[in-house]
Amino acid sequence: SSGPSCLMVTGGAGFIGTNFVRYVLAHHPGTHIVVYDLLTYAAKIDNLHGLIPDRIDMVHADICDAESVEQAIRRFRVDAIVHFAAESHNDNSIQDPAPFIRTNLYGTYVLLEAARRHGLRFHQVSTDEVFGDIGFDDPHRFTEASPYRPSSPYSATKAGADHLARAWWRTYGTRVTISNCSNNYGPYQHIEKFIPRQITNILSGIRPRIYGQGRAVRDWIHVEDDCRAIWSILVHGAPGSTYLIGADGELSNMEVLRMILRLMGRGPDEFDLVADRPGGDRRYAIDAGKIRRDLGWQPLHRDFEQGLAETIDWYRCHRRWWVGDKQAVEARYREQGH
Ligand code: NAD
Ligand code: DAU
Repeated sequence: SSGPSCLMVTGGAGFIGTNFVRYVLAHHPGTHIVVYDLLTYAAKIDNLHGLIPDRIDMVHADICDAESVEQAIRRFRVDAIVHFAAESHNDNSIQDPAPFIRTNLYGTYVLLEAARRHGLRFHQVSTDEVFGDIGFDDPHRFTEASPYRPSSPYSATKAGADHLARAWWRTYGTRVTISNCSNNYGPYQHIEKFIPRQITNILSGIRPRIYGQGRAVRDWIHVEDDCRAIWSILVHGAPGSTYLIGADGELSNMEVLRMILRLMGRGPDEFDLVADRPGGDRRYAIDAGKIRRDLGWQPLHRDFEQGLAETIDWYRCHRRWWVGDKQAVEARYREQGH
């Protein structure tokens, strides 16, 4: 089957949203896109410049604003929503949870109600963090059956939003799917996040900063593989279902940092240890067996070090994209002891 004819992408000017919009424009010519984005600190409208103009429209508005959502759906005859828009950064949620509650919970509710009214297909983009963390030596990985056990204000709001989405399927029959993905890396990621922060630190003459002892483990996936998986769930996924997305990419933060240092020609000890994140999750690990079996999806970027080298090149070549954010991001981290 083919994709939706008019797809609303909330948060389409953020990191994964931008990559997703670019992916759909490049590979699925039958789908028109409406980016619906508030353009918070995490977004850059320039991300969408130069894209095929007659295939994309932009609505600059808040997902919490039900009237704007309604207008956009009617005006563009939207038939599906992929919902990326969120406050996405754990450290920010620890400093001030308020915008997370609003956007991630209330905003998702507003969109679900619109999907219900109009009978739209709805895909909820969520995270493996809803499952909490697992011990370093635990042989188990997260599956679709793992219990929800979120740790941070951010992940608790994502967990709540997933519960709302499931309730709309069960109660109203809204055609909802959910994906819980592991840590994405690649181009257009905000420099507050771990990998781009370290790369842009080195490019700015600042030593990389690692929390605690760098022992925490994250399960990395290239953002393009996540985007292909989301499309595949949107078009072929069973309404009411959840799919975990991951690429068997478990690495400790220290391993990732050492790779960045080596690829950028720095010594292995040219970094500083800083305060750990309060309540920080130790380890995430995804078993992506279901999406592999049911939808035939598999990651194409299997060489993390090569993907990382390409990501480093991207930040090197796009200095103007991030340099204006650097001071404020680092000032905020200093306040938090990171
Ligand atoms: P991001 O912070 O880079 O982008 C978020 C986007 O949402 C921005 O464009 C922002 O302007 C927009 N937005 C925020 N509040 C809004 C509001 N009230 N109304 C409209 N737009 C609003 O985030 P990201 O890293 O691209 O993550 C996208 C989604 O994927 C999030 O839902 C996140 O929870 C989920 N996710 C991210 C990862 C990851 O590794 N980055 C992994 C799994 C899941
Ligand atoms: O697992 C998916 C999640 O991945 C998404 O839901 C979130 O939106 C996304 O932000 C990401 O969350 P993390 O908290 O895992 O990512 P972050 O980049 O903030 O941190 C990754 C790890 O690196 C974490 O253990 C904290 C550590 N860290 C982070 C920063 C910014 C450092 O050691 N140094 C740093 O400077």
